[in-house]
Parts: sequence; structure tokens; C-alpha cells
Amino acid sequence: MNQAASRLMELESLYGAHNYHPLPVVLSRGLGIYVWDTEGKKYFDFLSAYSAVNQGHCHPKIVDALTKQAKELTLTSRAFFNDQLGPYEEYITKYFGYDKVLPMNTGVEGGETAIKLARRWGYVKKKIPNNEAKITFVKGNFWGRTLAAISSSTDPASYAGFGPYMPGFDLVEYDNLIELEEKLKHPNCAAFMVEPIQGEAGVVVPSEGYLKKAKALCEKYNVLFIADEVQTGLGRTGKLLACDHEGVRPDILILGKALSGGIFPVSAVLADDEIMLNIKPGEHGSTYGGNPLACVVAKAALEVLKDENLTENSQRMGEIFRSKLKNQKFSFVESVRGRGLMNAIVIKKDYKKSAWDICLALKENGLLAKPTHEHIIRFAPPLIIDEKQITEGCTIILETLKTCDQ
Ligand SMILES: Cc1ncc(COP(=O)(O)O)c(C=O)c1O
Repeated sequence: MNQAASRLMELESLYGAHNYHPLPVVLSRGLGIYVWDTEGKKYFDFLSAYSAVNQGHCHPKIVDALTKQAKELTLTSRAFFNDQLGPYEEYITKYFGYDKVLPMNTGVEGGETAIKLARRWGYVKKKIPNNEAKITFVKGNFWGRTLAAISSSTDPASYAGFGPYMPGFDLVEYDNLIELEEKLKHPNCAAFMVEPIQGEAGVVVPSEGYLKKAKALCEKYNVLFIADEVQTGLGRTGKLLACDHEGVRPDILILGKALSGGIFPVSAVLADDEIMLNIKPGEHGSTYGGNPLACVVAKAALEVLKDENLTENSQRMGEIFRSKLKNQKFSFVESVRGRGLMNAIVIKKDYKKSAWDICLALKENGLLAKPTHEHIIRFAPPLIIDEKQITEGCTIILETLKTCDQ
């Protein structure tokens, strides 16, 4: 690494909070599935900014929508109408088949919004006594860093030292319907919130039928099913939504990340009128939510997904990826798992090299990926990747694993 790059890293360390521990690479350009560092070295991006860049870096159609709108009108707040919000709301609700959308910015705000909607529905429609509503989460969940999000977390790195925590949250084992039913039975349970495939927990895929049965249980006990598809949605797992793998329609759907194609934070919560219209003017919102720039960017990002068949591509490329990696046996690889282009390799816990060490070696070989926990590496390239490129990426991964197997 040259001096200029070292200096840039040093600046972050000197002047930025130390709440991240990035891989030592300083990026200055991105296009499609590739990124370049400040010295001009090219890398395959197999993280896609935690699945925000599904459409590829700087997608020309999305950038075009952004730059055109940026010259017209960027922000009005919701104090006034704007000429982009209505058309976007019509587009996204028809795209996903819901009555209404509530536009927000980050993924975690989407989660907060979904929980507020569920609590309100619980009081108004399910007649839960005031302030008694419960929300059930699964262990290992990750939905962001706000106080509510960490209050449902089972990862001490997320929650420890930040209490007191939000009351009214229950936890059950992921993929365990018996525990879930016990919680859903409670008359004050308003919602069950779940990632259809757990992302930050390490790409944990539940047993077949889990989501469908969980949804059926929610219906049995009049509990809302909230799907956090911030990471799994928008083609990432080989279906438009990961819930589509089991034909489940969430009562509340949370989207974020790739909803803007990696341009800036845009999130959305979708639900039908029965749920959405319990929140009245002045009871929830955000200055930037539904801004005209976000509306045109999100619309373009959704169009790109459809026009370029990215969901189908994700399904096909994911199969190639897993077949290539599963075919090779390494003494220290416990498993390769995932769906579509959301995959992970799990390193044996007692192996002398950590996931971090392997990611450093991958970086040297021109491919960027990031560990989640000490022993899992997630691989999530942009969904525009083609067969030749995924094969090249797999070759780099396999060659790197070979050198680590010594
Ligand atoms: C499943 C899931 N939900 C919510 C979030 C939070 O999104 P954001 O970081 O945009 O707040 C994340 C972020 O990684 C996520 O993976």
C-alpha cells in the first residue's frame, strides 16, 4: 500500500469514530461488479455493500435518474406534496402487491416503522391493552443499530453497554416453530419479525417450510408477520423476495439497501390499508422520507431489477457459485450455504486462520469479501455478474482457499 492510501486510512482513524474495522483497502471507484483502489488495483466486489449494490456500482440508468432529478428538486419535506412521490408510491405498491407504502431512508428506520405499525395495529385492531403489545423476534437477528434494534439483539457486540433496553420484545430460537407458537399464543403478541434468511448471523437458511408454517401460525393467533427483507429482498436470494421461495406474503414488508441500488439510503415499508391506515398525520415520519430524489432513484433501481432479469440471474449464478465451491473439499471449510447470490462459507472454528485472515488473502488476490463473526465469510456479488465473471471469482476464491489450506 502506498503512502497516500496509508494516510487516508490514518485520517479515518484519527478523526472518525472507531466503530468500524474495515479491511485495509481504500476504494475510489466502482463500476458494475468491480471496484478500484486509490492505486488503480481492480477487485471483484463480493460484498456489494452488504447487498445494497445489487444492480452493480454506478448503474448508468440509476445515476442518470439521480443526476436529472438532482437538477430539478431534491427535497421538499412532507410539509408539501411533490411531483415524484405519488408516481413512485403507485409504482412500488403495484410492484410488490400492497395497498400502501411508507417511505423512509435507512433499513433500521424501516424496522422501527414496521414495529410501530404493528404495535398500533395491535392496539386499534387486536385490542391489546395499551402499552402491553409484544413483538417476537428470533435469536441471531440483525436489523440495525438503533436502541430498539439492539434491544432485540442476542449479539453482545451489538447490545452490551447500551442499556436500558426497549420493553415488550420476546426472543425465540430461529427455525423453531414450537417455541414460536408459545409466544404467538400470547394475546398481547402483535407481530413476529423475521429475516427469511439471516444475513449478519452468517447467511443462515431455515428449514424448508419454516416461513410458511410460521406465517400459518401467525394467522392462527392473529399476529402480524413482518418480513425484514432489507438484505434478502430485491433478487438477492434468487427470488424477488426471499419469502417468495415459500409463497409467503408478509403482512408488513421492509425493504432497504438495494432499493436505491447503492446510491443513498432509501427504505420502504409496505402493508395493506388495514395495517397502514392506523397511523394518522403527524404520528410518524422523517424529513427525508419520500424525497423526490429518492423516489426517482428507487423507481429506477426497481426498473433495473426487472429490465435486466436480475432475480433470475441471481438464481442461476448462485447455483454455479455453490456448485463450484461445494465441489472442492478443504479440511478447514465446514460448509458452503446460501440461496441465489447470498452465500457464505463457514470455516471450522478451531482452524488456525480466521475468516478475517482469509479475507485479507482474498483481497491480495483481487476479490473483496467480509467476514461475519470470526468464522463465516459472506459472498454477495452484484446481481449483474455473468457466468464468466462468477467463474473467475470462484477461481480466485478456490486458489486462495488452497493457499490457506497449509
Ligand atoms: C436484515 C437487515 N435489516 C436491517 C438492516 C439495517 O439497515 P441499515 O444499515 O440501512 O439501517 C440491515 C443492515 O445490515 C440488515 O441486514
